[in-house]
Amino acid sequence: MKLSIIGAGAVGTSCAHWALVKNIAQEIVLFDIVPGLARGKALDLAQSGPLFGYSGKIYGTEDFSLLKESSIVIITAGKPRTPGMSREDLLKVNAEIVKSCAEKIKQFAPDSILIVVSNPIDAMVYVAYKITGFPKERVIGMAGALDTARYRYFIAEALGVSPRDVQALVMGIHGDLMLPLTRLANVAGIPITELLNSEKIKEIVERTKYGGGEIVNLLKTGSAFTTPGLATIEMAEAIFKDEKRILSCSVLLEGEYGIDGVFLGVPVILGRRGVEKILEIRLEKEELEILHRGAEACRNLIQALPDL
Ligand code: LAC
Repeated sequence: MKLSIIGAGAVGTSCAHWALVKNIAQEIVLFDIVPGLARGKALDLAQSGPLFGYSGKIYGTEDFSLLKESSIVIITAGKPRTPGMSREDLLKVNAEIVKSCAEKIKQFAPDSILIVVSNPIDAMVYVAYKITGFPKERVIGMAGALDTARYRYFIAEALGVSPRDVQALVMGIHGDLMLPLTRLANVAGIPITELLNSEKIKEIVERTKYGGGEIVNLLKTGSAFTTPGLATIEMAEAIFKDEKRILSCSVLLEGEYGIDGVFLGVPVILGRRGVEKILEIRLEKEELEILHRGAEACRNLIQALPDL
């Protein structure tokens, strides 16, 4: 089982790190076009093997042909945000980068499952889908796993309880119009509405929606990477191990939730075949409205893409 990661920036390196720690693949390839960057990062990661005790193989490369026989390819290549930028500001520059990666994946790893992390995610996953021509089950955007982790963490923090016991779902676009569902969030089965007042819940929802931006403003030179990396590896692990996890992923909707032709975050079953099922749950009117506004924002992004 081979995992390839394109982009040896902060998120790609975090993916490689977590993949080694969680021992999800026998072979990990870290790719970057910058000479030496991926090789240096991979060597550094490999040298933790004796200390941590992981034994998976990792190597870095500038040679796209080494993607051959990958079961999963993660695309993290692209520019990150800096303060004052929205994810959408990255659209044109990252579309070109993702396009060139997708062409190489199509050439060298035509049977792989793609996980797209580059921003704005819901548009970049669309680019990867169009360029590779892979079936929609094999082209998946990472966003909901990260946004849900943030939401769960903020709920746990507010209650002073273990984040492990918090379950929640964030749907929709990976942007300001995302939909952290309050009705379905719970702690060990207890609805958060029983434990937190509505003002506090509203505050948590807002902080979740701007969770990425909060970190960008603090870091000033880039965006979050540790949890984005782990959230991506959680998806890869579910696929490699055929776990049938239910995770919120950005997938192509074709009529589900009354939305057609855009990638948007919805709960799906992830297993060896990629997206094995899209779960269409009942939403309240206001929730559905937010989802649809996110879908419109995605459609606008797709329309603003350069010619593919
Ligand atoms: C974030 C970036 C990865 O939300 O979009 O941190």
